[in-house]
Amino acid sequence: MFSLLAISLSLLLQSPFGFVRADVQPFNSYPNDFVDPTYIVAGKFSNATTGAQQSIISWAESISAYGPWSVTDKPFNAPSGDPKDYVSWAPYWWPNCTGVGNTTELTPQQIWVTCPYYQRDGQFNPDRLTVDNIGAFTNLSDAILYNALAYSFQNEPSSSYSQTIAKFVDAWFLNNATGMNPNLNYAQMERGPNGQVGSHTGVLDLKGMAKVVSGILILRQRNCTDWTEALDTQMIAWTNQYINWLETNKLGIDECASLNNHGSFCFNQLTSLKLLVNDVQGSINSSNTYFKGIYQGQINSTGDQPFEATRTHPYHYRNYNLAAMITNARILKYADPTSNPWNLTTKYGATIQDALNMVMTVDPNASDEEYAVAEIFPNIAAVASTYGDPDGKYVAFLQKAFPEYPWDGDFLWDQPLAGNPGSTDAGSNSTTGTTGTKDASGASAVKALTPLTLIVALIFGIGAVLL
Ligand SMILES: *[C@@H]1O[C@H](CO)[C@@H](O)[C@H](O)[C@H]1NC(C)=O
Ligand SMILES: *[C@@H]1O[C@H](CO)[C@@H](O)[C@H](O)[C@H]1NC(C)=O
Ligand SMILES: *[C@@H]1O[C@H](CO)[C@@H](O)[C@H](O)[C@H]1NC(C)=O
Ligand SMILES: *[C@@H]1O[C@H](CO)[C@@H](O)[C@H](O)[C@H]1NC(C)=O
Ligand SMILES: *[C@@H]1O[C@H](CO)[C@@H](O)[C@H](O)[C@H]1NC(C)=O
Ligand SMILES: *[C@@H]1O[C@H](CO)[C@@H](O)[C@H](O)[C@H]1NC(C)=O
Ligand SMILES: *[C@@H]1O[C@H](CO)[C@@H](O)[C@H](O)[C@H]1NC(C)=O
Ligand SMILES: *[C@@H]1O[C@H](CO)[C@@H](O)[C@H](O)[C@H]1NC(C)=O
Ligand SMILES: *[C@@H]1O[C@H](CO)[C@@H](O)[C@H](O)[C@H]1NC(C)=O
Ligand SMILES: *[C@@H]1O[C@H](CO)[C@@H](O)[C@H](O)[C@H]1NC(C)=O
Ligand SMILES: *[C@@H]1O[C@H](CO)[C@@H](O)[C@H](O)[C@H]1NC(C)=O
Repeated sequence: MFSLLAISLSLLLQSPFGFVRADVQPFNSYPNDFVDPTYIVAGKFSNATTGAQQSIISWAESISAYGPWSVTDKPFNAPSGDPKDYVSWAPYWWPNCTGVGNTTELTPQQIWVTCPYYQRDGQFNPDRLTVDNIGAFTNLSDAILYNALAYSFQNEPSSSYSQTIAKFVDAWFLNNATGMNPNLNYAQMERGPNGQVGSHTGVLDLKGMAKVVSGILILRQRNCTDWTEALDTQMIAWTNQYINWLETNKLGIDECASLNNHGSFCFNQLTSLKLLVNDVQGSINSSNTYFKGIYQGQINSTGDQPFEATRTHPYHYRNYNLAAMITNARILKYADPTSNPWNLTTKYGATIQDALNMVMTVDPNASDEEYAVAEIFPNIAAVASTYGDPDGKYVAFLQKAFPEYPWDGDFLWDQPLAGNPGSTDAGSNSTTGTTGTKDASGASAVKALTPLTLIVALIFGIGAVLL
């Protein structure tokens, strides 16, 4: 107990703002990202990323407490009757029972199959969470990413973080009793008398595959002993079946052909999963299909995103698709280091950077999206670290709107990026030196801070996630 206290105390004392602030940020689930495993495995993190590393360790531990997850954990099965089929309900669809007679007599189960459903864009039907396979997968994808990063901070072939990943991957994907069937036939099901089948929009539910792949590639490249040959072989087999479904089932084909964020996120899955199965050329091909295809129409000459600007939550959707475009660019850059996705222009002559610059001029309040303010922060960090920030406008924006950004997890991989005034090498591009938190004592110290983190999370936590 004494030693734990001493460690916490020393950690606080060496933290840039002493006792004034928490060392970790509230849990953050980014809409999507792909974290270059080679950069992580090299482990040459600037001292400025110490706070981000502490947040990541804390996030790995907090999100893992909800796992393991399985699609079989739901109150009813898909119409197939197979508990291993993934299920979610179309979030913006509502029943209209006026035409079906005695509505007061209908149980919820009868409403699902009796009343016609119709769409109200942007308005969640609260009963969508009756089945929460989607929440489970989102948490799983964060757990795999953050545990893999936490594992990478330790110089060990095995750790509790990588053991957790092995356990979670088995439960969700591979285990004979609980593993998900490799398809999304019942994702975002539209209910009603003619419904009970998935819609292509449901493919979006698994966009976090890019995080899953990042995590697994890190374990693989680090020769993690918990990521066994058997796990790797089974995961590749599962993924090959799922890729086949994505590329041949009408739902997958239609989703990747969607002109808006749905298409962009669909390619996040396809291109990252092909890396998982070691089909690098296939991944590059799919990236090219994206960048020569739907990307061409996604950013116009004023930097706006026509297919997102017209939605009910335009600030959210612009940032959402930006996250997907950034993820597609990161995956292609990793798969083919000679490629230059950041400079690829749409048919209107615009780049991803132009899209971000435009969103930076938008006031989220103008569309009553005050809740979505934070969605731009990881996009700014990604663009600043990729294109550079010669006039300091990205850092200035972050310092004003989100001064804690060097403690946010993505600061680890969105480098170089100026920030962290308390660090010995604030704002430098230094790639030398590692940090004092890459060991078990750092992890313990962070655990000791968790109650404070929870309070901060309760105060500042942003729960709203739109689809
Ligand atoms: C609900 O159903 C009634 C009767 O079938 C129909 O007249 C009405 O237009 C429907 N409303 C909506 C919003 O679909
Ligand atoms: C409608 O509900 C009432 C009250 O429960 C019941 O008496 C009546 O038989 C029902 N009518 C039909 C057509 O189902
Ligand atoms: C997912 O994690 C959030 C916290 O980030 C939690 O509120 C939620 O209950 C979790 N859901 C599942 C299904 O694990
Ligand atoms: C997997 O489960 C199925 C039934 O769901 C059973 O028929 C099969 O034998 C099981 N396979 C293994 C390897 O346990
Ligand atoms: C992993 O193993 C391979 C093959 O033995 C080796 O070349 C590589 O350096 C190892 N990577 C790490 C990070 O230890
Ligand atoms: C990639 O695309 C090229 C050119 O279209 C094609 O010849 C090749 O077979 C594709 N390779 C894979 C692995 O998809
Ligand atoms: C770009 O798209 C936005 C949103 O649809 C639109 O308001 C704007 O006029 C477009 N700009 C051009 C030059 O077409
Ligand atoms: C947005 O509105 C909130 C209050 O609803 C206010 O606190 C905030 O300053 C506003 N932001 C801008 C940029 O006007
Ligand atoms: C864009 O292309 C130019 C010229 O090839 C290159 O110098 C620059 O680094 C590229 N920008 C990015 C963000 O890759
Ligand atoms: C990083 O921090 C360590 C430990 O505090 C220190 O020894 C090292 O000099 C620092 N590196 C740089 C580049 O500041
Ligand atoms: C980071 O590196 C870039 C390119 O090498 C340089 O232009 C920039 O000034 C550096 N930033 C800092 C803060 O040293």
